[in-house]
Amino acid sequence: MSSFDPPAIEFRQVSIAFDEHVVLRDLSFAIPAGEMRILLGASGSGKSVLLKLILGLLKPDAGEVTVNGRRVDRMREHDLLKLRTGIGMVFQENALFDSLTVAENVGYALSEEGQPVEQVHARVAEVLGLIGLGEFADRLPAELSGGQRRRVAIGRALAPAPGILLFDDPITGLDPLIATTIDSEIIKVRDLTQVTSIVVTHQIRDAFYIATHEAEQRGHDVRIVQADDETAALIQFMVLHEGRIHFQGTAAELLASSDPYLKEYLLLTLPPW
Ligand SMILES: Nc1ncnc2c1ncn2[C@@H]1O[C@H](COP(=O)(O)OP(=O)(O)O)[C@@H](O)[C@H]1O
Ligand SMILES: [Mg+2]
Repeated sequence: MSSFDPPAIEFRQVSIAFDEHVVLRDLSFAIPAGEMRILLGASGSGKSVLLKLILGLLKPDAGEVTVNGRRVDRMREHDLLKLRTGIGMVFQENALFDSLTVAENVGYALSEEGQPVEQVHARVAEVLGLIGLGEFADRLPAELSGGQRRRVAIGRALAPAPGILLFDDPITGLDPLIATTIDSEIIKVRDLTQVTSIVVTHQIRDAFYIATHEAEQRGHDVRIVQADDETAALIQFMVLHEGRIHFQGTAAELLASSDPYLKEYLLLTLPPW
């Protein structure tokens, strides 16, 4: 990426309200291509609304939302549909197709696009390898565990090689050990592809794990290791509070902050380290 490339995602003084209820006010931030932001905020602080603005599913009352330098808030429906093909989404509800196999779920968007069957197969095999579900290609979602289903949802979002991946609470509802395996998938996707991503979560433990670990590839082997300082510096938290980005910085900066709201938020949500 050259320094002349526009940010992958940019908000400029974005405001949105529902009736009298102002959710985002004068919100500004930019995410350079290839970077990850972990978005924290209390329930109802506007995290999902922020993601919907990126997808053009909601329009701001004021301000600009751009994706790869293009104004989403002004796009017509036809262009929005095209935009969304370049953005992968992983929701809390996986919304897999129950009657399709794992491979068919992962390849769904590619087949819909009319890609040749061999090309779809090759890409699906590649993605299943990355998410560690190669042996489960022919299973149905009902035959998988909750964690495996979540991985299929990640694979499906990833298959079209989107430039942007949005995760909305991808860990919620999973037990802690399984959650860690999903954290690892998110780390792998971040470090082994060029994707720009936003991870919304209210699982602070997982947020810190994702922010402080990286994927290391050795031949076919991928290991999750403690991130070095250089990598950790590129993974930033954004904390949404009262309609604005109240804080942006690394895991270490967040933990060291003396801001009263952040201290209370962390005290209430973090386990004793
Ligand atoms: N389509 C909508 N109509 C009315 N209110 C909405 C709508 N979408 C979100 N809201 C309100 O906006 C606020 C932020 O919602 P949301 O972004 O879903 O919060 P969260 O941070 O938990 O994801 C909430 O108070 C919610 O009730
Ligand atoms: Mg939400």
